Amino acid sequence: MRRIVLLVHRVPVSGAFTLNDLAGGGGRMDEVARVVSTAFLASNELRRDTEVTLLFGGSPPPAARRIRLYGERIRFLHPDERSTAALLKNALVRSIPLEQDVEASPGLVVGPVDPLAELRHLAEDPAAVWLTEDGGPFDELPPDRGATVLLGDADDPTPAEREVLESAGLPKASLGPRALRASQCVDVWHNRMDRRVPPG
Ligand SMILES: C[S@@+](CC[C@H](N)C(=O)[O-])C[C@H]1O[C@@H](n2cnc3c(N)ncnc32)[C@H](O)[C@@H]1O
Repeated sequence: MRRIVLLVHRVPVSGAFTLNDLAGGGGRMDEVARVVSTAFLASNELRRDTEVTLLFGGSPPPAARRIRLYGERIRFLHPDERSTAALLKNALVRSIPLEQDVEASPGLVVGPVDPLAELRHLAEDPAAVWLTEDGGPFDELPPDRGATVLLGDADDPTPAEREVLESAGLPKASLGPRALRASQCVDVWHNRMDRRVPPG
């Protein structure tokens, strides 16, 4: 299983933004949506072996939200970022009055979260690495590391998130010398993983 944990910083967790302004009022929801579609959609197939966790840490609990997407069950995912953003926005809106997780659409579960506690938990995954430009080469990771990646959205992890990642002792891995967009990181990472285990 491949797992992506995206730290989302500026998207309004209430879903109070318009699909016509994903980059501005949407707090870079355009990039979050691109990460999701890049995570799951190859040319002519869905990557069923992939899961994505979006940690919306921009507002502290009880407003903070987590969205989990499961490749095995996900539906209604299309290549354009606007429809993906709509799927995520609808989930955030539906979750506002709820105190527990709900499957807002097939394969998409949303609910309240304590983002730093959840990050601490996710960082315990023995396959996890922190994707960052100043890490060691991804290709030199041991084979049991790298199937789970944690990364920032349009922004790097906050100081509080960095502290969690550092105190978890998470290995840092770089995908190359240039600072990439998060969605580009997902593309490159999938490619590296495909080379490790070619699609059967
Ligand atoms: C758009 S970048 C954040 C801003 C970027 N650090 C900059 O200086 O422009 C989003 C995230 O992608 C990941 N990232 C970007 N470039 C990377 C690289 N070359 N290797 C590994 N991760 C990278 C990091 O997790 C980063 O927080």
